Amino acid sequence: MHLNLCGTTYAQTVETLMEQKRVAIIGAGVSGLAAIKACLEEGLEPTCFEQSEEIGGLWHYTDDGGQQHGASMYKSLISNVSREMSCFSDFPFNTDTPPYPPHSQFHHYLQQYCHRFDLRKFIRFKTQVVKVQQAEGFVEGEWNVHTVDTGTDGTEPCQHVFHAIMVCSGVYHRPHMSLFAGLKTFQGTVTHSRSYRTPDRFQGKTVLVIGAGNSAGDIAAEVGLTASKVYLSLRDGVWILPRLTHGARPLDLSVSRALLHAPDFVSRNYIKMLSRTHINQANYGLHRTKDPYTHGFMVVAKPDITEFTPAGARFADGSCIDADEVIFATGYDVSFPFLDSDILPSSLQDQELYKLVFPVRMKKHTLAVIGQIRNRGGASPVVELQARWAAQVFQGITQLPDQDMMLGYFRRDRQYRDARFGPNKLPVVDLRYTDDIARDIGVKPSFWRLVLWDPSLAFHTYFGPAFPVHYRLMGRHSWSGAAAYAKTALIKTYSATCTNRVQTRHNVNSLMTVLLVCLMVAVLSGIVMKS
Ligand SMILES: Cc1cc2nc3c(=O)[nH]c(=O)nc-3n(C[C@H](O)[C@H](O)[C@H](O)COP(=O)(O)OP(=O)(O)OC[C@H]3O[C@@H](n4cnc5c(N)ncnc54)[C@H](O)[C@@H]3O)c2cc1C
Ligand SMILES: NC(=O)c1ccc[n+]([C@@H]2O[C@H](COP(=O)([O-])OP(=O)(O)OC[C@H]3O[C@@H](n4cnc5c(N)ncnc54)[C@H](OP(=O)(O)O)[C@@H]3O)[C@@H](O)[C@H]2O)c1
Repeated sequence: MHLNLCGTTYAQTVETLMEQKRVAIIGAGVSGLAAIKACLEEGLEPTCFEQSEEIGGLWHYTDDGGQQHGASMYKSLISNVSREMSCFSDFPFNTDTPPYPPHSQFHHYLQQYCHRFDLRKFIRFKTQVVKVQQAEGFVEGEWNVHTVDTGTDGTEPCQHVFHAIMVCSGVYHRPHMSLFAGLKTFQGTVTHSRSYRTPDRFQGKTVLVIGAGNSAGDIAAEVGLTASKVYLSLRDGVWILPRLTHGARPLDLSVSRALLHAPDFVSRNYIKMLSRTHINQANYGLHRTKDPYTHGFMVVAKPDITEFTPAGARFADGSCIDADEVIFATGYDVSFPFLDSDILPSSLQDQELYKLVFPVRMKKHTLAVIGQIRNRGGASPVVELQARWAAQVFQGITQLPDQDMMLGYFRRDRQYRDARFGPNKLPVVDLRYTDDIARDIGVKPSFWRLVLWDPSLAFHTYFGPAFPVHYRLMGRHSWSGAAAYAKTALIKTYSATCTNRVQTRHNVNSLMTVLLVCLMVAVLSGIVMKS
């Protein structure tokens, strides 16, 4: 391949490398933006390559779904994570953002984030990374990155040299399509949820949606607005949870550090109870055999498909249907086409990542994977912590343990995740995970230090919702506004919908009740664990 250093000589490149560590960031979605900011905070020099013409990744809606370069969500998508739980730790949403932002407002938020921290100038748009290879010798862990211009056809690839790489290319791009028997004989139209935009084209049709994730639930419900009939095929049931619980409070505001320390059965049964008070799944043929956490939560249910027929499909209970359209809402496969599989295999089973970020067996830890997770809460706060950690490791501020320790940790962690969430799936992360990384980089809020500093803040941080802003209260790059924000984030959730707030005793009372219940759960769990 012709070596094109894009205008710079090799000597110049080496000289630059000696001055400041250069980091290549692949992708300018939520993960990529967090990565740029983290690099800047730690004095690294980021260059972000983005194959499309805009930031935001999946959150940048396009009518064609970004089919050519990247992917985007569908038109009606509303975040399933509340605003205060899905923002970056030092950049809250505007006050006019509703409790659950639609994709357009989330994208606008990302644009504002770029503007606030002046991130755009580090992004090279319409530039696709086609190959990432270890530089010769890999002495200091340098990388060669090959890019092509997606705006022009037939351009020569460029080669760049970097000290480190952050892979932020996203995990929801390559559709997972199961090979059902007889699918090739089916005469209707087969698509994947990735290309779903609006329900318009399903007018009057019979549609079969396959899957039990959020995409399947959303799409089946929306297609039902225009189609003549919609079937939903599930191989197991679902746990359906409302976005808003009692008092129209966002569900995810129930996640607190106190609850995290409660025994496992408490949080599992709490979620089951929330689901059951909302809907009796069994009445709709949606009863799920596995526990919550093994799966996402969403909304005539049909069992698993045994085979397709030319006119439709046959199911495990022996029933048959005719269908005009089949939508596979069966999720995605992970893929890193620009990386050799010995560096990072696409098969989740073969990957050995320390805390889901660093390939364990690398000689030099100059490559980090950001965002290869399933978000139970918001993706932004998680990928932001991963990026902050990676930037500190690249800069030598934080050290990783030796390989044996990382391998040991990886194996125990995989065992835990497989048992709790199911094997070979995108790793599910929760507060336990983010607190763990935060501890490694010294930004986990310490209850006892907070008690001495500001008891009410300690109370909010431990018993209240685990807001992302808690990771800016102390440690490197803390935010001076964090403490004040942490205390008001709960109220800020409703800033767009409650413009004329009256402080009633009822508000105060219900808050106190929630806090009291959390306190009791924590105390009881402490007693149970000790006994
Ligand atoms: C339908 C759907 C709904 C979701 N809803 C929510 C939600 O409500 N709340 C939530 O928190 N999360 C949600 N998610 C999860 C979502 O993945 C994250 O919120 C977030 O978008 C992940 O950001 P990312 O940057 O890791 O990946 P992406 O958003 O996928 O961005 C990756 C970027 O990398 C670029 N790229 C890829 N390969 C290359 C390459 N080779 N060269 C250059 N550029 C490249 C892409 O063009 C893209 O811009 C949802 C996901 C889906 C699929
Ligand atoms: N903001 C929103 O409202 C919203 C909307 C859509 C998506 N999302 C997010 O986007 C991400 C992707 O969601 P997704 O729903 O597209 O994918 P997903 O969560 O991976 O769900 C895929 C579904 O397909 C099922 N499936 C896979 N292979 C199958 C087969 N052969 N037969 C039958 N069923 C099969 C899976 O069943 P098993 O569970 O049995 O494996 C699962 O129910 C998630 O993080 C989700 O939270 C958010």
